[in-house]
Amino acid sequence: MPEAALNSYDSSYHSPVMWREVVEIFSAAAGVVIDGTIGGGGHSQALLVSSADIRILGTDRDDEALEFSRERLSGFGDRIHFAKASFAELGEVIRDAQVIDWIATDRLVGALFDLGVSSHQLDDSRRGFSFRNAGPLDMRMDATSGTDLGGYLAGVDERELARSIAENGERHFARLLARKILAATRSGAVADTAALREIVVSALPKAYLAKRTDPATKVFQALRIAVNDELSQLDEVIAGLGEIFGVGARICFISYHSGEDQRVKRGFARLVEGGCTCPPALACVCGAQVTARSLGRLMRPKPDEIQANPRSRSARLRAIEFIEPVTVASLRGR
Ligand SMILES: C[S@@+](CC[C@H](N)C(=O)[O-])C[C@H]1O[C@@H](n2cnc3c(N)ncnc32)[C@H](O)[C@@H]1O
Repeated sequence: MPEAALNSYDSSYHSPVMWREVVEIFSAAAGVVIDGTIGGGGHSQALLVSSADIRILGTDRDDEALEFSRERLSGFGDRIHFAKASFAELGEVIRDAQVIDWIATDRLVGALFDLGVSSHQLDDSRRGFSFRNAGPLDMRMDATSGTDLGGYLAGVDERELARSIAENGERHFARLLARKILAATRSGAVADTAALREIVVSALPKAYLAKRTDPATKVFQALRIAVNDELSQLDEVIAGLGEIFGVGARICFISYHSGEDQRVKRGFARLVEGGCTCPPALACVCGAQVTARSLGRLMRPKPDEIQANPRSRSARLRAIEFIEPVTVASLRGR
C-alpha cells in the first residue's frame, strides 16, 4: 500500500500533494512514467509502490532534489533512473543514449509535473527563497546556472518588474513595489532576503498590511517565477508533449497559482482540440499523431489533506490522456 510506505518515510523534505489522486490517474499504467519535477521523490515513491509495472524517469533542475530522491528511492534499483534537466528539455532527455538504454523496450506511458518549489527549497535559507530567514539573493532552482535574484534585480527595468509582480504575485501596488525594490537595490540596501522583505513591507500601506498574511509571500513568488523563467518553461513543455507521448499516455500537472493553472488549462485545451491547427469543429485533416481528452475536471485537495498539509491548499490538478485522433483517413475506413 502506498499509504503505509509513504508514512514510513520522512516527509521533512517535502510532502507530496494530492498523491492519492496521482496514483489513481496512473493506476493502469504499465511502462515508464516521467516525473518531471521529482523534488523529494514523494510522488515517484507512491507510484513505484502502487504498481510493479511502473518505472520512473525522474528529472529535476535542482541537484539537491536529485541527490535526495536518488538516496530515498535507492531501494527501487533499476526501476528508477535520474537525469538533471529542466522539463522544457524533456525531448532531449529521452533522446540521450543512456536514457534510451534504460527505457529499453518499455513505453512512455505518462508524465507528472508538480510545479513550483519544494518545501525544502523554501525552507533552506541558503537557497534564497525564504523571506523568514535571511539568505542570499539567489532563488535559482538550478543553483549552478542562470541569473540569480541579485543579477535579475540589477538588470530588470521598473516597468517589467511591475508587470511581473502584478501578473505572478501581488496585483495591488505592483508599480510602487517595483520602484521601491529597484531604488533600494541600486542604493545597496538589499543585502539579503530579509532586507528585501523589509523593503516590501515598508512600501505597502499599513491598512493593507493588517489585512493579509505576510505581504512578502506573493512578491517573493513573483520574483521566483521570473528568476526561473517558470512560465515560459511551462508553455514549452506543454507544447512539446505531443511529440514525446503516444496514444494512451496520461499527463498530469499540479499547479499552485492561477497564472500556472491558466497556462495548463489553455495548453490542454489546444491538445484536446487536436494538437494541430485544423478547425476544432471538423475532423483533423493533417494527420496529427495524437489528440487528447480531459481526465475529469479540475481537482482540488480534499479538506483532510489541506488540514494535514496547509501548503497543499492552493493546489489544482489537471490531467489528460492522449487518444487516437479522428482523421479523414480513419473516417473513410469506417
Ligand atoms: C513541488 S516540488 C516537487 C515535489 C515532488 N513532487 C515530491 O513529491 O517531492 C517542485 C520541484 O520541481 C522542480 N522544478 C520546478 N520547475 C522545474 C523545471 N522547469 N524543470 C525541472 N524541474 C523543475 C523544483 O526544483 C522542485 O524540486
